[in-house]
Amino acid sequence: MDFDWTMLDELRASYLNGTAGTADYWKSEALLRGYDATFARRIAWKWHWVLRELDRRGWSPPEGSLLDYGCGTGVAAREVLSRYGAASFTSVTLHDRSPRAQMFAADAVRQENADISVESRLPDQCGLLLVSHVLPELDGPGVAALVRAAENAQSIIFVEPGTSAVSAKLVEMREKLRDSFHAVAPCTHSEQCGLTRPGQEANWCHFFAQPPTEVYTDGDWVHFGRVMGIDLRSLPLSFLVLDRRPPIPHIADEVRVIGSPRLFKGYALLDGCTSEGVEEKRFMKRVDPPFFRAMDKNKVSTLQHWECKGIDIVSVRAVDLPSASEVETTASDQGGDTPSSGSV
Ligand SMILES: C[S@@+](CC[C@H](N)C(=O)[O-])C[C@H]1O[C@@H](n2cnc3c(N)ncnc32)[C@H](O)[C@@H]1O
Repeated sequence: MDFDWTMLDELRASYLNGTAGTADYWKSEALLRGYDATFARRIAWKWHWVLRELDRRGWSPPEGSLLDYGCGTGVAAREVLSRYGAASFTSVTLHDRSPRAQMFAADAVRQENADISVESRLPDQCGLLLVSHVLPELDGPGVAALVRAAENAQSIIFVEPGTSAVSAKLVEMREKLRDSFHAVAPCTHSEQCGLTRPGQEANWCHFFAQPPTEVYTDGDWVHFGRVMGIDLRSLPLSFLVLDRRPPIPHIADEVRVIGSPRLFKGYALLDGCTSEGVEEKRFMKRVDPPFFRAMDKNKVSTLQHWECKGIDIVSVRAVDLPSASEVETTASDQGGDTPSSGSV
């Protein structure tokens, strides 16, 4: 492991203090390599989690090209190509304000997908637009340029940090695009976002992906966590998937649990999002002890069916992934259940 930890630490500091957006910070190939093997792997795990959530909704990408906007080292495009297969897309465009990042991403995509055509110029139209950890770096004109790119896309997946500030930006983006797209996930409806209603100011739409067990066992990851002061067990994210194609119908009593359940002795308080808005409900452990424990360990889908009486959830069920026979075989199914290559 021969990364320049000081450079990576400075990069992380610029993400945390909000200065990363001011100028192109990809000063060397070594920095991109270090980022790709560390921060980008954590982002890949978030993508992996989001794409599984999309399986639960029965979603698959539209035909046409793939565009990774603010691509960095191209982790979003690489995860999507690994999941759905390069043959699902006519080409991939890697767009970034940094030419060095674009070149790095293009090499990485070609290494993993020898046959796909890789472009760098923003296309007039695209099938699937990916936006990964870019919103925190965009100022007003930057957001306007992204909205223009979004208007030329058939479907969009945003995967962003799980902070309240970024979640609020994502809600703004959803409201800007809501007339042209419907929401596939995490939303259970395409009405105005419930978090924009009075009383929800302290709440934000976020989730927790699960890192692979190697973060606990692999010496390099343990070292990375220690040097960077990052708790590798926690992978908070916010995400949004929008689509112009005819919607996959939501099931009537579908609820999306947002944020962490607040646990008390014998019960938890959950924020459930439906077309009625975001509402806090109480889930008594005795209603379903195994479900309660699984939920506490972040082991159940946040997409659930609830039966409620007043403030109490009296029956709960997670939305399962379709059975193997219902899911088309994909590139990642053939390669196992882990995100694409790389370690610290
Ligand atoms: C935190 S990195 C994320 C990179 C990659 N998408 C990922 O998930 O790892 C943010 C990226 O957005 C790019 N970026 C920032 N502002 C941009 C803009 N206005 N237009 C295009 N790219 C931008 C940066 O150069 C950087 O590569």
